[in-house]
Amino acid sequence: MSIFPIEHVASLRIGAVEFVSPNEIKIAIDLEAPDGIAANAGVPRAFPRINSYVLISTESGHIVAQVEWIAIERSPFPKRKGFHDYGLVDLPFPLRKMRANPLGILRQSRAGFLFERGVHGFPSVGEPVVIPTDEQLRAIVESGDRRRVKIGTSPMAANADVCVDPDRLFGRHLAVLGNTGSGKSCSVAGLIQWSITASQKAPGGENKSSPPNARFIVLDPNGEYPKVFQDEGRVFRVGDTASPLEVPLWFWNSAEWCSFAQASARAQAPLLKRALRAMRNEEFSHPERSSVRVKMFLASILITAKSERSKGSPWASFPRPKNFFDKICKWNDSTETLRGHLEAEDDRLENLLKVFAAYKNARLGRHPKYDSDLREVDGIVDVISSTFTEFGGSGRDLLPKSEDVPTKFSGQDFVDYLEALAQETGNEQYIEFLLARIRTLLADSRMNGIIGDDIDISVDSWLKAYIGEDDAKNGCVSVIDLSLVPAEIVHVIAAVVARMVFEALQRYKKLYGMSLPTVLVVEEAHTFVKRYREDAENQSAASVCCQIFEKISREGRKFGLGLVLSSQRPSELSPTVLSQCNSFLLHRVSNDRDQELIHRLVPDNLRGLLRELPSLPSQQAILLGWAAELPIMVRMNDLKDHERPHSDDPDFWDVWSRKKGRPIDWAEISRDWQQRSEDAPNKDDFPGPERPMS
Ligand SMILES: Nc1ncnc2c1ncn2[C@@H]1O[C@H](COP(=O)(O)OP(=O)(O)OP(=O)(O)O)[C@@H](O)[C@H]1O
Ligand SMILES: [Mg+2]
Repeated sequence: MSIFPIEHVASLRIGAVEFVSPNEIKIAIDLEAPDGIAANAGVPRAFPRINSYVLISTESGHIVAQVEWIAIERSPFPKRKGFHDYGLVDLPFPLRKMRANPLGILRQSRAGFLFERGVHGFPSVGEPVVIPTDEQLRAIVESGDRRRVKIGTSPMAANADVCVDPDRLFGRHLAVLGNTGSGKSCSVAGLIQWSITASQKAPGGENKSSPPNARFIVLDPNGEYPKVFQDEGRVFRVGDTASPLEVPLWFWNSAEWCSFAQASARAQAPLLKRALRAMRNEEFSHPERSSVRVKMFLASILITAKSERSKGSPWASFPRPKNFFDKICKWNDSTETLRGHLEAEDDRLENLLKVFAAYKNARLGRHPKYDSDLREVDGIVDVISSTFTEFGGSGRDLLPKSEDVPTKFSGQDFVDYLEALAQETGNEQYIEFLLARIRTLLADSRMNGIIGDDIDISVDSWLKAYIGEDDAKNGCVSVIDLSLVPAEIVHVIAAVVARMVFEALQRYKKLYGMSLPTVLVVEEAHTFVKRYREDAENQSAASVCCQIFEKISREGRKFGLGLVLSSQRPSELSPTVLSQCNSFLLHRVSNDRDQELIHRLVPDNLRGLLRELPSLPSQQAILLGWAAELPIMVRMNDLKDHERPHSDDPDFWDVWSRKKGRPIDWAEISRDWQQRSEDAPNKDDFPGPERPMS
């Protein structure tokens, strides 16, 4: 272009600043500025629209502002320049106004334009407002130096490439929000695929022929993703012969067990936890069950006796010696019971029983004195300790495993033990109902394959399959298809998977001193991360599930675990998790409550931008937060049919008008549903026993 820069700016001018406050700039648009298409940028282009950019020329560079609002205001006097003809009667005159939100500064250097976030000095009134050239627009949108993955283009900025940095996008949790059909699942599937492709092409890595060392785990309640990732990833599905979904019940921690069994916090949960602890410590499943139980009992009383001794309870003031005496009496009774379970000729407990009896007998009578001296107490501790060693006890047994360690046990043994425990402690009436419930659930054939005793998987092979092997040899993505998991356990399964992943990464960091970057994707997040009432006494499965996601959202970053939540009901999501999300990809949102919530999540000066949310077409979204250099409207990359999650809108018309066929075989469906084999007769077809005529 032959004109000088100053002239050039003048030719792009559309108005002047009229009002300035720290978060808002009002612009009066010149009368002669074009309406629809501006030809003065060199090439014809649309006049600024909502959410597009304008520049305000100041001495230190151009301030970049995003248009929030455009309107016509009737001015009581004409805004004619120059000569005023006082003889004429002025009629109200339509004036165009625009409100814009300052975002940053665009400076010109030898290499081109450079965009910086943040505005140091505000413009003054009267300063000219110009429309940016294509080159300037690209400089604004394509700013930032870590542009690693291209996710789409910006229709507002000459279709400049919109790129993100995965460290930012996934590192501090991302929420993808929008109405049904607005394109969330496509965006999520796209983000995973584009990231994988881009990292494979990235320069600098060794071993470029193998897939990237990435780890994505998708919790997919609708079964939409297997189609997309079956080649490059692992898909776990209920009933799949090659890779069935398996989350055995011995993986679950006590909170998950309590929610599964709906155990009441006061009477049932403590018993359930005690039984779990026994299971984890092999008290029950060991072949030499009785002596293992004695060993565990001795371990626990040895710890107590030593601590009582060091506290000085047996010779302290009343009532502590009496309490110590009561303890010994109780231990004596329990030892006698355990003695009954041992072989008749086994005399390893005799010595201990003798010492207990002697201690007890010395304090019987009318006015007993419960005090004892150090020598006597030492004698007791010694005899417990030597008996403990006789039963094979060692220092390791003195640190019993907590009830939450994933050691293997069988569901059947657990129920039997729980029942025995309840009888022993006289709590049968409290847990009768609980036992019945656990038994019914465990007997349910729909659950057996997912949680039951027949599953033969170790923690190690589970982690390899679900999180991925060393160097991601078995693929970068695992899809956990929860669509066929029975509703009673789907929350527990999701919670266990999420927790196992989180705890595995915590342990990885402890061992290696570095974090293992992993992304956990939660589709339809409102089912698993649903807000709950905190005061509820019974911990329902949904709230236990939400709590683990809350924990991941708070602490996951430290261990390299990033969350991606996709939801159509943001107002139902847990506020803790949402407030921990630092990036947002917002698709069309038309519901009032959801819009209100999203408005509350973003800073004040960006609210104008969100007014476009109800009218976004599908595949377009606004990216804002930590991952975006500046809030930006993105038209996401196109996904081919086989790359899209399977959730097309139903095609009523094509089926109605017979353009597409839909054959039906309900018999096949009912056979599958009732889990009948191919040739089994259908009982429903037989007439029932004849009823007598009434
Ligand atoms: N990036 C894209 N490339 C191609 N098509 C897309 C893209 N994004 C959205 N679409 C179209 O939009 C449709 C709906 O998208 P999608 O299934 O992702 O919506 P959704 O928000 O996940 O809906 P729901 O809440 O019901 O799960 C898709 O079937 C597809 O035709
Ligand atoms: Mg979806």
